[in-house]
Amino acid sequence: MKGIILAGGKATRLYPATKVISKHLLPIYNKPMIFYPLSTLMLAGIQDILVISNPKDLSLYRDLLGDGHLFGVNISYKEQPEPKGIAQAFIIGQEFIANESCCLILGDNLFFGSSFEKNIKYASSNNNGASIFAYRVDKPESYGVIEFDSSMNAISIEEKPKSPKSKFAVTGLYFFDNNVIEIAKGISPSKRGELEITDINMTYLENKKMKVIKLGTGTAWLDTGTHESLVDASSFVRTIENRQGIPIGSPEATAYSQGWINSAQFEVLIEDYPENQDYKKLLKKYIEYK
Ligand code: DAU
Repeated sequence: MKGIILAGGKATRLYPATKVISKHLLPIYNKPMIFYPLSTLMLAGIQDILVISNPKDLSLYRDLLGDGHLFGVNISYKEQPEPKGIAQAFIIGQEFIANESCCLILGDNLFFGSSFEKNIKYASSNNNGASIFAYRVDKPESYGVIEFDSSMNAISIEEKPKSPKSKFAVTGLYFFDNNVIEIAKGISPSKRGELEITDINMTYLENKKMKVIKLGTGTAWLDTGTHESLVDASSFVRTIENRQGIPIGSPEATAYSQGWINSAQFEVLIEDYPENQDYKKLLKKYIEYK
């Protein structure tokens, strides 16, 4: 299974913070935003990862993450010339995906929770059709909204509906079989000129190839598209990390827990971070007492 992180877009809702820097490089508490989706893919066991971003920002992601070998993964990069929609990721990533299945995560999505790990491992083991995650939110109208029956069969999906049919948002983490490439090529731009991920999901739903996994109350899902939600996400990470001493969204810690790097390689990975720095201290303590 291949993994794609979509980290482009203009992020105008965050201006002026994102006027000259890509949103996914902004910090969520103590690490760049892109560390969180990267760790999520790694938690799902995915080691071949493509980062898609704007032409002007791509070199910054390369500087930050390199080819991924220090994290025990392979990272490659591709430009999205213009933000023409989330579903365009599968067309840009066509060669990278080749004939495998694919997981897409939006660069501004943060997941945390012990049952979450079980859920993504389950989704990544399914190579047939699509698996998406439903999460209860108070204001579903800001998201793709999914309606499903008591057996978790999807009934409808709508992108940012004025009158939502349920309280469940579709999160920015999607697992698709290889048909997603052809489906993405076959959809037309929406009224706002974008290839919509919801249109891809609709196709799987209509073909009865859509699995919906409900993320329960023990899982946190945060997206970080507004100033408010950025602060909320930072506070959340700070609270849990300080209280439990568990790094959240850390590719360094995830690489180590997955057994992709040993303790000597872990030391190399964090040797650049200054000795008395909080993030380094957190990582070292975590490894020591794991
Ligand atoms: O976060 C979950 C939601 O994400 C879903 O519930 C919606 O169905 C889905 O459409 C999406 O809604 P957003 O309003 O959050 O999408 P937004 O345009 O803000 O883009 C989400 C991320 O994807 C953001 O980090 C920027 C990136 N992006 C977006 C587009 C449209 C790109 O890199 N390129 C693009 O062309």
